[in-house]
Amino acid sequence: MYSEKVMDHFQNPRNVGEIENASGVGTVGNAKCGDIMRIYLDIDENHIIKDVKFKTFGCGAAVATSSMATELVKGKTIEEAMKITNRAVMEALDGLPPVKVHCSLLAEEAIHAALWDYAEKHGIVIEGLEKPKSDIHEDEEEKEEY
Ligand code: FES
Repeated sequence: MYSEKVMDHFQNPRNVGEIENASGVGTVGNAKCGDIMRIYLDIDENHIIKDVKFKTFGCGAAVATSSMATELVKGKTIEEAMKITNRAVMEALDGLPPVKVHCSLLAEEAIHAALWDYAEKHGIVIEGLEKPKSDIHEDEEEKEEY
């Protein structure tokens, strides 16, 4: 059911933990399954993501996608990180079963929420970044209708 990469990132998740005095912190949840994700970003003056950590109270797919998402944004600029979608994360993991696709949204949204927090603290605007939702479940319902 799960690819080897998903199993690897679930069993040995990368970048678990927290960053003290992080540049940006984002937390999102999904009220439907009750899972919660928090992402910490350390961003330098050149807008490069020097470090990233995550903590989750979530399912295995949420752990694996967050682990892969943190690997993908590490060392990237904010602009590059904005382009990393949950789809890209899933591809990097060789796919997820359809019922688990929503789990990958937690990581993407938590990264966006952390970037939003960073932008607010620094009085900057990040192109394409919208105010994050604290619960991604509503969004999912809309998408499911199509
Ligand atoms: Fe909730 Fe996977 S079941 S994030």
